[in-house]
Amino acid sequence: MSDLEVLHSVETFRRTFEAARAEGRTVGLVPTMGALHAGHESLIARAGDECDLVAVSIFVNPLQFGDPTDLDRYPRTLHHDLEVCRRLGAGVVFAPGVSEMYPDWPEPPSTVVSVGPEARGWEGSSRPGHFDGVATVVAKLFAIAGRCRAYFGEKDFQQLAVVHRMTADLGFPVEVVACPTVREHDGLALSSRNVRLTPDERRAAAVLSRALSSAAVAVASGERRPGAVGDLMAAVVATEPLVTLDYGAVVDAATLRTPERIDGHRPLRLLIAAEVGGVHLIDNAPVEVGRRAEGVRALAGAVTGG
Ligand code: PAF
Repeated sequence: MSDLEVLHSVETFRRTFEAARAEGRTVGLVPTMGALHAGHESLIARAGDECDLVAVSIFVNPLQFGDPTDLDRYPRTLHHDLEVCRRLGAGVVFAPGVSEMYPDWPEPPSTVVSVGPEARGWEGSSRPGHFDGVATVVAKLFAIAGRCRAYFGEKDFQQLAVVHRMTADLGFPVEVVACPTVREHDGLALSSRNVRLTPDERRAAAVLSRALSSAAVAVASGERRPGAVGDLMAAVVATEPLVTLDYGAVVDAATLRTPERIDGHRPLRLLIAAEVGGVHLIDNAPVEVGRRAEGVRALAGAVTGG
C-alpha cells in the first residue's frame, strides 16, 4: 500500500508532476472517469510497472455526454476508486470538480478540440460531439500533466485513435500507451456497462467476441473483401436474438476508414457494436492478414478480468 495524495486543483497536480520530473522521476497518467474496474486496474498496474510516479485522474467529463440523464446516472464511486488506486500503488489521484476543469460551467469552454475523420463514423455517428468532449478533456489533462506517458485501453478503440491523432496534431509531449482489453472468461470485454445486463443478456453479449474471432479467422484464412467480413460478423451476431448489431467492420487501425480491399499493407482492426437490452456494447480486435495463429491468439488469449 502506498501513500496516496488526492489532489483537486489543476495547479497542485501540475506542480506535483513538475516536481517529480525535476527529481528525475518518470511520470505516468491514467485518465479515467472513475467507477474503476479490472480494465482500469490493468492500466494503473502497467503504468506502475513503467513509471516512477502514477497519477490516476478521476473526472466525469460532462462535455462528452450528449444526454444529461446519462451524465447523472454515471456511477460515482470515489471511495472505492481511491482504495483501488492505493492498492495498486498509484501516488496521486487527480479528482477535480467540474468548475475546476471548466470554470464557466454550465457554459462549455470556449475552446474545444475537434478531431477529424477518426472521430466521425462508428461511435461518432450515434454520439454527436462525444469525441470532441473526449479530445478536449484529454488535451486539457495533457496540458496540465506535461511530459509523461498516458495509458488508455484498446477497448475504446476509436477513442484511442482520436487521442493518438490529437496528441500528434497538437504536439503534446505525451507518449500514448495502448493497453490490451481485459475480458471475462467467455470473451466479453470488461465495461462499466456490463452490470446493467440481465443474466440472459450477459450470456448473449459474449457473441460480440465470438463474431470478432470468426472474422479474424476468416481474414487469416484468406478473406479479402471487407464487406464479406462485415457480413460474417452480422451472421454470427444474428444467432443471438437478444443482441442487435449496430455495425461490424474491418477498418484501417489508424484512420478507421474501411479499406477497399484487405491487403495487409497497413495494420487493420475489427470493430463491432451492438445493443443488448438497452445497453450499447462495443468491442474490437486486431486482425493480421495471413497470420492465422496470431490473429486468433490475440483475442482468445487476452488478459482475463474478474
Ligand atoms: O475512457 C474514459 O474513461 C474517458 O473517455 C476519458 C478518456 C477519461 C476522458 O474523459
